Amino acid sequence: MKTLILYATKYGAAREAAERIAKKIPGAKLHDLKQEGIPPLANFEYIIIGSSIYFGSIRKEAKTFLAQNANVLKEKTLGLFLCGLQPEEEKQFFASNFSSELLTAAKVTGFLGGIFDPEKVGFMERFVIKTVAKLTEYLNRFDDGKIEEFVLTECLDRIDDGKIEEFVL
Ligand SMILES: Cc1cc2nc3c(=O)[nH]c(=O)nc-3n(C[C@H](O)[C@H](O)[C@H](O)COP(=O)(O)O)c2cc1C
Repeated sequence: MKTLILYATKYGAAREAAERIAKKIPGAKLHDLKQEGIPPLANFEYIIIGSSIYFGSIRKEAKTFLAQNANVLKEKTLGLFLCGLQPEEEKQFFASNFSSELLTAAKVTGFLGGIFDPEKVGFMERFVIKTVAKLTEYLNRFDDGKIEEFVLTECLDRIDDGKIEEFVL
C-alpha cells in the first residue's frame, strides 16, 4: 500500500474530504490523526494530510503530527489539504499553518471546501458562525473540481500516459 491519507476533523467534514480522495486512489489507507495507531510513515511513498480550519488554525492533532514528523514528511510525495468555508483565505491559511519547508516540499496543496451543520456544532460555535459569517442553515460547500484536481496533481507520476481517467475516476 503506497498512499496514506491522514486527516484531522471535528465534525466529520475533513473525514469526508479524505474519503472522497481515498475513493479515487486505489489501495489508499485512511487514518484519523486523533486515533492511536498511525501506520508507520516508512511504509508509504505518498502521504496526504488534511485538516479542517477553526478560527484560522488547523486542528491540534494535525499541528502536533506535522511538528513531530516534519523531517520524514518533507522526503515524501506530500499532499496537503484544508477544509473550511473561506476559500478566499486559502493562501493565508496554508502560510500560517504549515512551515515553509513543508509547503515547498508539498507536491500539491488544496483548499477543498467544507460543511457547516448547525445541528452538529455547539451553541457557542453556532452563535459565532451566525455573528461572523451570518450563517444559520446547513451548508455544504465541498468543491468536487478541486478534490479531483488535488488527486490528479498528487498522483500524476503514478499514472501511465493516457490512463489518467481510468486510474482516477
Ligand atoms: C467555530 C467555527 C469556526 C470556524 N472558523 C473557520 C475559519 O476560520 N476559516 C474557515 O475557512 N472555516 C472556518 N470554519 C468552518 C469549518 O472549517 C468547516 O465547517 C469545516 O468543514 C469543518 O470541518 P470538520 O467537520 O472536519 O471539523 C469554522 C467553523 C466553526 C464552527
